[in-house]
Amino acid sequence: MEVIKRVGEMQEVSLNLKRLEKSIGLVPTMGCLHRGHLSLIEAARRENDIVIMSNFVNPLQFGPKEDLATYPRDPDRDNRLAESAGVNYVFAPSSGEMYPEKYNTYVEVEGPMVEKMCGKSRPGHFSGVTTVVLKLFLITQPDRAYFGQKDAQQAIIVRKMVTDLNVPIKIVTCPIVRDADGLALSSRNIYLSPKERKQALALPKALSAGKDMILKGETDPQSVRQLIIEVLESSPGIRIDYVEVVNGDNLEELQTIKGKVLLAAAIYVGKTRLIDNIDLEV
Ligand code: PAJ
Repeated sequence: MEVIKRVGEMQEVSLNLKRLEKSIGLVPTMGCLHRGHLSLIEAARRENDIVIMSNFVNPLQFGPKEDLATYPRDPDRDNRLAESAGVNYVFAPSSGEMYPEKYNTYVEVEGPMVEKMCGKSRPGHFSGVTTVVLKLFLITQPDRAYFGQKDAQQAIIVRKMVTDLNVPIKIVTCPIVRDADGLALSSRNIYLSPKERKQALALPKALSAGKDMILKGETDPQSVRQLIIEVLESSPGIRIDYVEVVNGDNLEELQTIKGKVLLAAAIYVGKTRLIDNIDLEV
């Protein structure tokens, strides 16, 4: 495995691989790898000759009051895990390398898809994501790029960007990897104290209650949303950011529960913001 820090070098390596007709799978990450990231790497390995993992804590997608400075970083551990998972190249640029002085180009999907849910609580976040993701695509030239359903809204917005801009890359969305007790793995889980870690379980629990209600025949999205809110509100130590029951392909409002449905929520446990979701086909 090779670790590349320069944009120019990464792009040259990728273009050479393309000339050799190697297929490339890209796994974009911000490091602090866990089994969720590793599941994306495994999927990329199955479907491509070469796997490139990017490891870049993208300042553009953090708000001024967010955790950019404290976001967990451990590049040596990441590189060891990436290597044993079968990554061929880690692309780990500095901020200055990605956004040199006078950098001034941004990629923005517009509309309700980016304005609701995480977009509402984190203004500018998704434009930071789409900007870095398109840059990563152009630098690493992948045939396929792998995203987690954990960040369902992110995956949907990236798909939209790729469709709208005719980017010839297949977006693959991989299932959420959870701990044994149901908590979705997240780099931010390490912020949680043992007590908060237990309180955070209200999030998967509330979403599962919503799913069960649908499986029992409920067809009104607002009733499902209300149930999720009630379960969260009756759980100690947490604060709701949002709860949504929406179309799982485009995040649009649902009149009735039918087709691809996404139950999504964000909560604060202490100072830590956690997101989770369940998607199902009805
Ligand atoms: P990061 O939070 O490091 O996540 C990298 C990828 O791993 C994302 O596609 C995310 O959805 C996926 N992932 C995280 N937790 C997961 C879990 N429990 N199960 C399955 N997949 C999981 O998302 C980002 O970084 C950034 O926004 C990025 C796309 C790299 C752009 O900067």
